[in-house]
Amino acid sequence: MAPISLTIRKAEPQDAPAILALVRSAYRGESSRAGWTTEADLVDDQRIDENGLLTKINEPFGAVLVAHDAAGDLIACCEVLKKDDTVGYFGLFAVNPLRQAGGIGRTVLAKAEEYVKQTWALSEMQMTVIWTRQELIQWYIRRGYQLTEKKEPFPYSSLVGGKALRDDLYFSVLVKAL
Ligand SMILES: CC(C)(COP(=O)(O)OP(=O)(O)OC[C@H]1O[C@@H](n2cnc3c(N)ncnc32)[C@H](O)[C@@H]1OP(=O)(O)O)[C@@H](O)C(=O)NCCC(=O)NCCS
Repeated sequence: MAPISLTIRKAEPQDAPAILALVRSAYRGESSRAGWTTEADLVDDQRIDENGLLTKINEPFGAVLVAHDAAGDLIACCEVLKKDDTVGYFGLFAVNPLRQAGGIGRTVLAKAEEYVKQTWALSEMQMTVIWTRQELIQWYIRRGYQLTEKKEPFPYSSLVGGKALRDDLYFSVLVKAL
């Protein structure tokens, strides 16, 4: 496989419309089925709105990271957040469904881990995954994450412009020592 040429940087507010389109295409609806893992059968909403995304972009102890290819197209993004003096949170992770399974996700996750170490000297990364997504949990385990016993509630009452398709959802918590 040819090496992936990615430019990864902190997002600016003007990146928001492109990030919203990327996130929605990867997590929701028919477009997301082109990828190998999706929430299309679990949730039918907008995932996040522009205000929510701008809050993450402007968060003083957080960042949205964006990855562009050599042609300048946005192909991946993620969010990192300093939770406390040791723990970082990783989320809003998306790769263009037409570009998945080529190593882009792995590269962006490694960059996010590096970012929280370099920026805030954190020693642990945490993330949450809907418990049904076993293929994705296995992917994180192959990246060094551990599936914990901890659970977090699914935000049924605060979904953005839509609804959940199941009533048994919750998040499993995964952690990795950095
Ligand atoms: C999760 C996601 C970011 C991964 O990005 P990616 O670019 O596909 O990741 P990579 O190319 O680095 O890895 C692809 C992996 O998928 C695996 N894979 C490919 N097809 C698969 C399938 N049908 N079932 C299970 N795993 C599969 C590959 O084996 C590879 O894993 P490995 O490197 O451990 O062998 C991307 O799929 C995505 O955007 N998904 C939708 C949004 C989402 O679920 N985000 C995460 C929320 S916590």
